[in-house]
Amino acid sequence: MRHAQDIEELRGMIGGGSVQGQSELAGRDPGWDARNLRAFAAVRPDSPDAVANLLRWCCPRGIPVVPHGGRTGLVGGAVTNPETLICDLGALDRIEEIDPVSGIAVVQAGVTLGALQEAASAFGLDPAIDLAARGSATVGGLISSNAGGIMAFRSGVMRHRVLGLEAVLPDGSIFSDLTRVMKTSAGYDLKHLFIGAEGTLGIVTRAVIKLEPLVRARATALVGVDNAAAAQRVVTYFLSRGGTNLRAAEIMWRKYAQTTGAALGFEHGQLPLDADCLLALELGGDSFEAASAALEDGLAAIYEDAGIIKDGVVAGSVQQADRIWRVREDTEILYRLHPQAPSFDVSVPGRAIDSYVDRLGPALRSIDPPLDPYVFGHLADGNLHIVLNIEGPLPAAVQQRVEEILYGPLDAIGGCFSAEHGIGLKKRAAFERYADPVKQKLSRAIKGLLDPKGLLNPGKVVDPL
Ligand code: LAC
Ligand code: ZN
Repeated sequence: MRHAQDIEELRGMIGGGSVQGQSELAGRDPGWDARNLRAFAAVRPDSPDAVANLLRWCCPRGIPVVPHGGRTGLVGGAVTNPETLICDLGALDRIEEIDPVSGIAVVQAGVTLGALQEAASAFGLDPAIDLAARGSATVGGLISSNAGGIMAFRSGVMRHRVLGLEAVLPDGSIFSDLTRVMKTSAGYDLKHLFIGAEGTLGIVTRAVIKLEPLVRARATALVGVDNAAAAQRVVTYFLSRGGTNLRAAEIMWRKYAQTTGAALGFEHGQLPLDADCLLALELGGDSFEAASAALEDGLAAIYEDAGIIKDGVVAGSVQQADRIWRVREDTEILYRLHPQAPSFDVSVPGRAIDSYVDRLGPALRSIDPPLDPYVFGHLADGNLHIVLNIEGPLPAAVQQRVEEILYGPLDAIGGCFSAEHGIGLKKRAAFERYADPVKQKLSRAIKGLLDPKGLLNPGKVVDPL
């Protein structure tokens, strides 16, 4: 075995961490992408210093390293091949500190979002980032993909939650900026280079995350409306009312909601699944009753005043709310129906959402008449997810035509062809086609500066200049 000697040496140097060879990796769950565990080995360091030692060992040997978090990324950012070594951050799972006075958490990269949410909640605090993969997505992965999720419209994306960050550079040196304050204007804010870099510039090992007050209870409603513009009026109503705490405003067009609703066993008439668009709302409050009352009152006022709500249901219990949320969050239903269905993740300015979505069906049908996209997403920040109703992957030429339809109009309207899932491998071609040429050149220059040998997560995002 070509890398047997490397594995022996790694076992000798990794201290309390562990090393798994290819045969052990073969038995593990690869996560979202079947190619995630094709490396010759996976090292699981147990401290930030051990990550630095590992990269100090890899760099002179020219061994490429792919950092792994929860392996729930959707763009192939964790994909490996038999020449690469995985650096699995899962053992960096310590929440080092929660400081309720400063409102911060200091966490290691392998802490899951769910674990951070739970630990912060003991102090009445919350990281103010939430997404469906909360059980497995790690802080390091969230930072590396600049994740957004459900609450971005209120509290920003990961970039806005990170106050400080530590990352190991490809040569094993450690970039350390673990500030715990919002305001720093001490020259270039280099931590942002590592946020959204998908592990191509350094391996994030620790971060200081800003926390917000936890809401004690949440109420959920699902309302049927005609289109995104109507849904936006509902959102604006709740956002502009003092004292209401809108936590989520997720939109689903009918095909998506009917498909997931049916798969989850909802009967006809149980939910407003016949509406063209569905809006899932969550309001925070001091008690379930108080939040539900605020939600019901608000919806009643909109219903009477504006008549834009066609139908709706307010969850009568936490269990019912959870069932409603599954209609939105259980996206795996689509992939069971259409294995490896082509999926897209775009940002569209609020004003342009309806015209963007209305165009999709007819334009896609001009490529292939049965194409009929599932569309859903985070209404209040304009992040739409589009999944095609066919098995993937698409032949390259068809993929390019679909991307032209989906990505082509975005630049002119001020949107973006990648909203919250990153570039990884999957959007490399789109990056080269749709990203600003000067940005591309600068990105490659920065990659070349930090990782001249191209050893960190090679092939993802950009190649060094
Ligand atoms: C979601 C993932 C796909 O919002 O980003 O469900
Ligand atoms: Zn999303």
